[in-house]
Amino acid sequence: MFLASKHCKNQSRTMISFSCSASPKLTSILALLLILVTMIQVNGQSPPGFISIDCGWENSSAYLNGALNIVYSSDVWFVEGGQNHQISPEFIEDAFNGQQKTLRSFPGGSRNCYTLPSTAGKKYLLRAMFTYGNYDRLNKTLDGSLFLFGLHIGVNFWEAVNLTNWDPSVTVFKEVLTVAPSNSVSFCLINFGSGIPFISSLELRPLQDTMYPFVNTSVSVSYFKRCRFGNITDPITRYPVDDYDRFWESCTFTSYPFINLNTNKNVGSLPGNNDFNVPSAILQQTSTLDTNYSRFSINVASAYNKDALSLQLLPIFHFTEINGSNPNRRFDIFSTGEVLFQGFSPSPLQVDSMYKSGQFLQKGDTFFTLDKTPGSSLPPLINAFEVYSLVQMENLTTDFNDVYNIKQIKTHYNLARTSWNGDPCWPREYSWEGLTCDYSKSNQNPRIVTLNLSTSGLGGRFAILLMNMMSLENFNLSNNKIDGPIPYYILQRVQAGLLDLRLEGNPVCSNNKDSYCIGKKKKKRRRNTTPILLIAVIVPVVLISLLVGMCILWKLYWKDKSGDNENYAMYEEETPLHIDIRRFTYTELKLITNNFHSIIGKGGFGIVYHGILENGDEVAVKVLMETSIAESTDFLPEVQTLSKVHHKNLVTLQGYCQNKKCLALVYDFMPRGNLQQLLRGGDVYCLNWEQRLHIALDAAQGLEYIHELCTPSIVHRDVKTPNILLNKNMVGIISDFGLSPAFNDAHTHISTVAAGTFGYLDPEYHASFKLTVKTDIYSYGIVLLEIITGQPPVLMDPQTIHLPNRVRQKIANGSIHDVVDKRLLDQYDAHSLQSGVDLAMNCVENAAINRPTMTEVVSRLKMCLPAVPEQLHLMVTGVPTISNEGNIQTGYSGTSEISILSGR
Ligand SMILES: *[C@@H]1O[C@H](CO)[C@@H](O)[C@H](O)[C@H]1NC(C)=O
Ligand SMILES: *[C@@H]1O[C@H](CO)[C@@H](O)[C@H](O)[C@H]1NC(C)=O
Ligand SMILES: *[C@@H]1O[C@H](CO)[C@@H](O)[C@H](O)[C@H]1NC(C)=O
Ligand SMILES: *[C@@H]1O[C@H](CO)[C@@H](O)[C@H](O)[C@H]1NC(C)=O
Ligand SMILES: *[C@@H]1O[C@H](CO)[C@@H](O)[C@H](O)[C@H]1NC(C)=O
Ligand SMILES: *[C@@H]1O[C@H](CO)[C@@H](O)[C@H](O)[C@H]1NC(C)=O
Ligand SMILES: *[C@@H]1O[C@H](CO)[C@@H](O)[C@H](O)[C@H]1NC(C)=O
Ligand SMILES: *[C@@H]1O[C@H](CO)[C@@H](O)[C@H](O)[C@H]1NC(C)=O
Repeated sequence: MFLASKHCKNQSRTMISFSCSASPKLTSILALLLILVTMIQVNGQSPPGFISIDCGWENSSAYLNGALNIVYSSDVWFVEGGQNHQISPEFIEDAFNGQQKTLRSFPGGSRNCYTLPSTAGKKYLLRAMFTYGNYDRLNKTLDGSLFLFGLHIGVNFWEAVNLTNWDPSVTVFKEVLTVAPSNSVSFCLINFGSGIPFISSLELRPLQDTMYPFVNTSVSVSYFKRCRFGNITDPITRYPVDDYDRFWESCTFTSYPFINLNTNKNVGSLPGNNDFNVPSAILQQTSTLDTNYSRFSINVASAYNKDALSLQLLPIFHFTEINGSNPNRRFDIFSTGEVLFQGFSPSPLQVDSMYKSGQFLQKGDTFFTLDKTPGSSLPPLINAFEVYSLVQMENLTTDFNDVYNIKQIKTHYNLARTSWNGDPCWPREYSWEGLTCDYSKSNQNPRIVTLNLSTSGLGGRFAILLMNMMSLENFNLSNNKIDGPIPYYILQRVQAGLLDLRLEGNPVCSNNKDSYCIGKKKKKRRRNTTPILLIAVIVPVVLISLLVGMCILWKLYWKDKSGDNENYAMYEEETPLHIDIRRFTYTELKLITNNFHSIIGKGGFGIVYHGILENGDEVAVKVLMETSIAESTDFLPEVQTLSKVHHKNLVTLQGYCQNKKCLALVYDFMPRGNLQQLLRGGDVYCLNWEQRLHIALDAAQGLEYIHELCTPSIVHRDVKTPNILLNKNMVGIISDFGLSPAFNDAHTHISTVAAGTFGYLDPEYHASFKLTVKTDIYSYGIVLLEIITGQPPVLMDPQTIHLPNRVRQKIANGSIHDVVDKRLLDQYDAHSLQSGVDLAMNCVENAAINRPTMTEVVSRLKMCLPAVPEQLHLMVTGVPTISNEGNIQTGYSGTSEISILSGR
């Protein structure tokens, strides 16, 4: 479309303004071309890191979109609730692409969210597409009423989708460029009460971190317009021309005075400038004017962009001089009369991307003018431009750990509540029913403080992860069918007055007269009350029937605390050993753990508390039960050894406490929990293939260090996924090593008890009690199998089977691809899968002598990882397996006009 306008500025001779849109005729020609391309390309592979979802697609197997060479999968893995629909038959033929034929609508719930796996801190393009297609046969877009729903990115408002008065065949798309806040990106549809929200497709594309430098954790940007110029036939240029699958609309002009130029020469960017990575193919084409004219304007607000005035826009112009004779071309760029860039001259065959970083235009300007300067011999040209609107990511998501744990509890109790969707606490009006949050600290993430699950028909045992809900103060489980023991760390918090638990009306209370069982609302105790007396007397009594063995240890440990707890600090003993790390007193430990307030875990050796050092560093304080170490006299030599072990994949010991009453180790705190939680954290927290390989390598390197580089060697003895922690950068860190006698030089040690954990135990060690580093190799092999399959070491269903045997069975029965974690959605490299499985099976050989050493494991794992440049280090080459060629979609249809609008 092309309009002559009369708003001339005084110096100008002629001014042309236009708004961009594809011409219908070109569109249909192009659609034909596309279909041809589709028929030629039959096979292909999805690009690294692409997540492509065909919403409402019912078949759980993915299919290849041949035109795009991208594999699309169903949305069942990414969303709960909603209904699947097909668009009305009359629109199916002409759908913009295969993904627009089905959709998922959300008649229930005011907010419904998709959760997509991501890498925390990485930049992404997220695109949602909407084709109403009269799926409900109610003519909702044309019945005269408002048809409007909202979109959230994470917990922040992104945009509204307004389909009022639109042709039902029209496809609307919305794109946002955003930084993933954690290992998932959530995207929500909001019901405004003006029509049922729905979605047809959802695509997540990783960008390079250097791109769109103004996008950061607090600023996202939403697509407003993205155009390319020249003589272009495709209405939309996307992948594979653009590696990042951005949609570049064709803004081609065929009539005078516009002239389209092109070149075959490669157009690059300045070395080191990766701000936009505009494809060379796009920069090779340009539009300019006949030399009789001096200026043109671009109006990016179409009739559908009426609300542009309320937006803050950021334009980016891409220019390159492709006239080979290196002419004199210079122009100014204005935004509604105000100069944005003055006297700009494009560089030959090199892109200049002109934008004002972080400076959004306050007035919602949509009218840009390019005007030749008086000294210039040629008029302005343009190759491409992008315009984005600001999306402020001002609101904070709920505390990462609370989100993780509440989702686990939801899974544990199989809770299907419509509002339990998206972020638990934010935005407040969509917070989950039955819980309340603490928003009082305005610059901190909200925390969950009360949880009411009374009369919800819950059965079974306590959700173990409740113990990690550190900020939970009130928990009401009354009138359910909860049975089985109450975990002692929960009781401990109840007795300490930190948690108000209500359990009346549950089988677990049938013989229990404790306050939490009789429904009398207990007065909340002050937090600084020392709970020691209560714990020493009441807790053991309660636990006798439940945890007999533990009770004895407990009493031993706390036995004579009641009288002299103020004097603990005086029991510090002198040690003849020289230990370089900090020695804590009991009083200091009490202080840094806020009186042992927050339990973050329970290992084989004791309870782990969260603590904060004086300098603000977070630590994990492991309080050892005296009896958990065979001889407590071994403790200091052990600490001395551990304090000397430093490796990036081994948890760092910060300090210790040792006196008559206190035996504790202080480690760096690992905010991302452990590998077991990540691997089995439900469908939403899925590690990708390459992240998995990296964590496997991290763990192997940590073990290699203690096996090969420590003298004497240290055998971990309890290698398992819960002992592989993740730091904030998702680097695997081995913990719980070294709490075992160090080795003699012969690499053998006779031990009288079989250490280790069920499922990870080396059968040879189990039989002989002969402990060598090969014992760890066996356990490591199990870990590697868990990483690959996502399954626990011992499977219970349909019958108990050890993971290595299950893997052997599957390989024997068919393809190795049946072994791999289904949540990877076939996004993995087949070659590295084969090597990974071979290596794991080699590690779990029955005879220790046949297992590789850790050094060999490390070098074989390194070969599984593709050698990629640093910026791409978390991407994987996906090799999709298409199980049903019949499901391949042809993409574009041949005869009709494609209507695609980035409408607002
Ligand atoms: C929708 O529109 C079509 C054609 O305009 C009409 O035949 C049909 O009755 C309408 N359906 C409803 C439910 O209004
Ligand atoms: C952040 O939350 C406040 C209060 O709920 C709301 O008014 C505001 O619109 C939110 N901001 C965004 C970008 O969603
Ligand atoms: C939605 O679109 C309709 C028709 O163009 C318009 O009348 C209405 O004001 C729009 N509503 C909003 C909230 O943008
Ligand atoms: C545009 O390109 C097509 C082929 O892609 C060509 O046939 C046509 O002549 C070109 N038009 C102009 C004005 O250069
Ligand atoms: C361009 O300008 C020249 C000289 O001023 C004139 O001769 C020519 O006709 C003009 N061309 C058009 C298409 O207006
Ligand atoms: C290319 O540059 C030369 C030299 O300035 C000029 O004469 C010619 O008109 C230019 N071509 C176009 C299409 O602008
Ligand atoms: C994000 O970028 C904006 C400008 O685009 C800047 O003002 C802001 O300080 C940045 N925020 C962070 C957290 O880097
Ligand atoms: C789903 O696809 C598989 C293979 O791709 C096919 O065997 C199966 O019949 C399909 N199921 C449905 C419900 O269409």
